Amino acid sequence: MTDHYAVIGNPIAHSKSPAIHAAFARQTGQRMDYGRILGSLEDFPGDVRAFVADGGRGLNVTVPFKQEAWALLADRSERAEAAGAVNTIIVLDDGRLRGDNTDGVGLVRDLTVNQGFDFEGKRVLLLGAGGAARGVLGALLEADPGSLTIANRTVAKAQELAATAAGEVQSCGFDQLTGRRFDLTVNATSSGLHGEVPPLPEGLLAAGGWVYDMVYGDAPTPFCRWGEAQGAARCLDGLGMLVEQAAESFRLWRGVRPDTQAVIAMLRPGSAPSGSG
Ligand code: ATR
Repeated sequence: MTDHYAVIGNPIAHSKSPAIHAAFARQTGQRMDYGRILGSLEDFPGDVRAFVADGGRGLNVTVPFKQEAWALLADRSERAEAAGAVNTIIVLDDGRLRGDNTDGVGLVRDLTVNQGFDFEGKRVLLLGAGGAARGVLGALLEADPGSLTIANRTVAKAQELAATAAGEVQSCGFDQLTGRRFDLTVNATSSGLHGEVPPLPEGLLAAGGWVYDMVYGDAPTPFCRWGEAQGAARCLDGLGMLVEQAAESFRLWRGVRPDTQAVIAMLRPGSAPSGSG
């Protein structure tokens, strides 16, 4: 029997998750399909219930439903709890639903395993204090950097988020970053959606410093372009994180971890189709 999975969001047409999970399933020989659901803004719980009633085994949840999914599910993993958001729903054998969140581990795995970043002793800056920032804060702390600072346009939100953390996290506004240096700057603001970059001071990046934008696009994001102009040693977008969070969801559902490298390469714009040439 083929097991059914899907990603639910609104909008959803451009989601790469079906292509990613189809590639994982081929690679690992799992009998499953993976569709996309345009979630109703009025009745997200109804959509989840209908999917499960039809025999669905698991869902990925994306914008704008991650917080709603958290509220819907009573059974949540520790990391989903800390994130205040659920991006993975697992339908257990007895039909009960469990919520998890693989975004943070996806970010950290992309940085460490795929890109070779070593957190030890590093000064890490997280930009933003909304849902995206909260979703990765716990995993960044667990990676055990030298220091972790949250900077946000609305300082009070940075302070609130830092106070929820299970370890030492500093918080400030963008102007208070003047004169400070960071080895890794992660953009979790939604400024790029408006074609903007947070107003960051010159000289923020330490020599050899990296920037990471949690979103991705077919062209370099505004934040990656800013990083390049500031002389970042590496400018990464969120495509690797997208594939890694998917791999972790896949592992939770199927008990097998797919290889992500080939899938990241397949999705990278401009990458040659395999076997060509
Ligand atoms: P998400 O789920 O994407 O995190 P969100 O919860 O609405 O969305 O949070 C958006 C984040 O991006 C916030 O940190 C927001 O800053 P404020 O808390 O001050 O609103 C930040 N943000 C949005 N547009 C921005 C911009 N143009 N410059 C800087 N920060 C911006």
